[in-house]
Amino acid sequence: MSKEITLATVKEHNKSNDLWIIIENKVYDVTKFLNEHPGGEDSLLSVAGRDGTKDFIDVGHSQDARNMMKKYYIGDLAASDIKKKVPLKEIGLAVGAIFLGITLVYLLKRGLAKN
Ligand code: HEM
Repeated sequence: MSKEITLATVKEHNKSNDLWIIIENKVYDVTKFLNEHPGGEDSLLSVAGRDGTKDFIDVGHSQDARNMMKKYYIGDLAASDIKKKVPLKEIGLAVGAIFLGITLVYLLKRGLAKN
């Protein structure tokens, strides 16, 4: 099993001479990569000691970049620090369906009562 690293630990490594970042719940030590990054030092420093998943994906990194990352992988983000995504879309759909159901029953009953 790969090493689990807590968010608190990652946060301690937020300087240009000691730089860890989280991408897709994996932790990377990019200290040595900083001055090689084709996207510049600033972009990496902007997510120093933090989760850079969104920024990483927004750039649309190539498969080459993804292969490069493996070299800097040092462990996985601790399970207790992994954010569970609230499935907002599903909740919205469920609420919508229930509302629609109630409205239909109401309309149906009203229609029947008239006859
Ligand atoms: C270990 C992690 C990373 C690796 C190995 C990596 C690697 C690369 C590589 C190889 C490129 C050249 C273009 C490509 O092949 O896609 C690139 C471009 C770039 N990267 Fe990263 N990157 C990493 C993390 C990040 C993060 C976390 C950010 C943002 C916070 C970032 C921002 C950028 C930007 C802005 C460019 C320039 C895109 C352009 O010129 O169009 N990178 N990166």
